[in-house]
Amino acid sequence: MQPSPKPVILTGDRTTGPLHLGHYAGSLKSRVALQDSHRQYLLLADTQALTDNAHDIGRIRRNVLEVATDYLAVGIDPARSTICLQSQLPALAELSMLYLNFVTVARLERNPTIKDEIRARGFGRDIPAGFLCYPAAQAADITAFRATIVPVGEDQAPLIEQTNEIVRRINAAAGRDVLPEATAVIPATGRLPGVDGKAKMSKSGGNAIPLSASPDEIHAAVQAMYTDPGHLRIEDPGQVEGNVVFTYLDAFDPDRNLVAEFKERYRFGGLADSVLKRRLDDVLQALVAPIRTRRAELAKDPGYVLETVRAGTERAHSVTEETKAEITAALGMFRLDPLALAEAGPALLTA
Ligand code: TRP
Repeated sequence: MQPSPKPVILTGDRTTGPLHLGHYAGSLKSRVALQDSHRQYLLLADTQALTDNAHDIGRIRRNVLEVATDYLAVGIDPARSTICLQSQLPALAELSMLYLNFVTVARLERNPTIKDEIRARGFGRDIPAGFLCYPAAQAADITAFRATIVPVGEDQAPLIEQTNEIVRRINAAAGRDVLPEATAVIPATGRLPGVDGKAKMSKSGGNAIPLSASPDEIHAAVQAMYTDPGHLRIEDPGQVEGNVVFTYLDAFDPDRNLVAEFKERYRFGGLADSVLKRRLDDVLQALVAPIRTRRAELAKDPGYVLETVRAGTERAHSVTEETKAEITAALGMFRLDPLALAEAGPALLTA
């Protein structure tokens, strides 16, 4: 009996800066856990990074190998997962152009992720057209690998929904299910806030802990973290919800029982913020130390990282070209290759 093929995972990260703990909690952790049971592709999304960084291409270029190094440092194994570079996969660009005909400007503008980002960046009508259209490009990324599982942070869920709308339109136009729909896998812990308590951890917001953080940086970040502003004396009852230190303990502390006990004691009163912070410091130091060590080793061998991306991109190239050929054939687009002509005869050209 043939073993059933492993389900396919595709995720990506814009190459705008090194990755941080928000990425780890949001998706890197699941990607490491899923690489045995799934066929996994990780996309270095430099083309997508361009959609809001065209003025700073150097930044995108410099961060391609940084992000690849982060992948390897957290435990992505290139023997089991494929790391590939978006701009070197022409099928992704071609499918993006195709899909743009299966989506309206109104629908793109309604996408909650895009809407939030337009507002946050103050684009207004001066939004780069590539930025408005990146949901179609992300649909191309996902479908070109025939991915059915996309582990992402919750802010990306509307993009997967829009991908599936495009998939249904392509399938309707083809008259058969040429593409599978995808499911977003969103971590139960929700989005990790910044160390300052702001909704999102981001490098540009200056509230992120990078995966390469030094012990002192981690310590300083934990010390600066918000707890419950109403928890003035140790014996006062404290608030757990919205307390950044608890959100981080929920995301990272492997000892669930201890966290549950801490919550109970904190709500009741009598548990000091300093005790919580010491625990979180220990947990984060233990998490980051091996990543930092591995990162430092990899930094000594950039040739290895480059070769990993090159080999992965080559594998991804054949997969994505094959999907593109299947889609354009299923849609009945004109083909110049003699084989297609011989198969279908002159009817193909005129029907
Ligand atoms: N939009 C993702 C981000 O901002 C990056 C990305 C590009 C992606 N292509 C993807 C994520 C495909 C999941 C699937 O980080």
